[in-house]
Amino acid sequence: MSKSGTLSPAQVGELYNNMHWLFDILMGDNRHIGYWDGSENDGISPRDRFTDHLIGEIGAGPGQHVLDVGCGVGGPAVRLAKTTGATVTGITVSSEEVRLGTSLAERESASHLVTFEQVDAMNLPYPDNSFSAAWAIESLLYMPDRIRCLREIHRVLKSDGRFALTDYTERLPLGTEQQKIFTETFMVNPLIRVEEYDDLLAEAGFDRVTRRDLTAQLQLSCQESDRDLPAKLRQIEETTDKVFSGYYREYALRASSLEHDYLGYVMMVAHKN
Ligand SMILES: C[S@@+](CC[C@H](N)C(=O)[O-])C[C@H]1O[C@@H](n2cnc3c(N)ncnc32)[C@H](O)[C@@H]1O
Repeated sequence: MSKSGTLSPAQVGELYNNMHWLFDILMGDNRHIGYWDGSENDGISPRDRFTDHLIGEIGAGPGQHVLDVGCGVGGPAVRLAKTTGATVTGITVSSEEVRLGTSLAERESASHLVTFEQVDAMNLPYPDNSFSAAWAIESLLYMPDRIRCLREIHRVLKSDGRFALTDYTERLPLGTEQQKIFTETFMVNPLIRVEEYDDLLAEAGFDRVTRRDLTAQLQLSCQESDRDLPAKLRQIEETTDKVFSGYYREYALRASSLEHDYLGYVMMVAHKN
């Protein structure tokens, strides 16, 4: 981590290259929070249900091209393509995630619709006006320059294009020491308050911005992670050793208490005119 407390895209790429096996144990193909809305007997996992909500928000369909900014190992991109018939380009800074996403698309018979590329979202190699919609699910917190990324997304969207983002926010102010613990524990860049996203999206050129506070969903996700922790620790220990699983246990407890006490979660939807 640099002195300013910001992680570079290359450092984030390394993190995801080295730790994908751990995120796999913890979250499977969807590396984001879950969503509970009372329809828990529908056989859909809370994480897939959250992806489905976002699919509804960006309203993609056949013939449209969607950019998935910070695509992880491809769970959301593949679900989006299979559900809507849209084509999807998923971008990540991790070469390992490109490999895993590509093999997931193959397994799910969605290779004709979904591709994954190693691209820094703050520097998009795509022409202006090339995508019908975009989303960034829990990826902006890894970016040292959020406004640059948002401007890039705005640039590559077509007129009337929709953009949805979800992110952790700073619900209660973190002191300097807590901020340090937070960025080191989560390996992310400093969080911002929810109101700051209104300003950033406007500054990037978006309008018709709506926001939904999903902190209650974050809390439910935390409760689920706390409940599942002993089983996950056993899996981590089988994959590595007692030392690492002990280290992870400490990490998880610190992360959980920060999430419960200080963090919020937001979903924002915006349009390009
Ligand atoms: C928590 S994961 C979320 C993955 C995915 N959106 C999901 O919901 O399953 C964060 C993702 O953001 C990506 N990311 C972080 N910084 C990035 C950057 N500068 N450009 C592109 N992707 C980035 C990481 O590589 C990782 O895939």
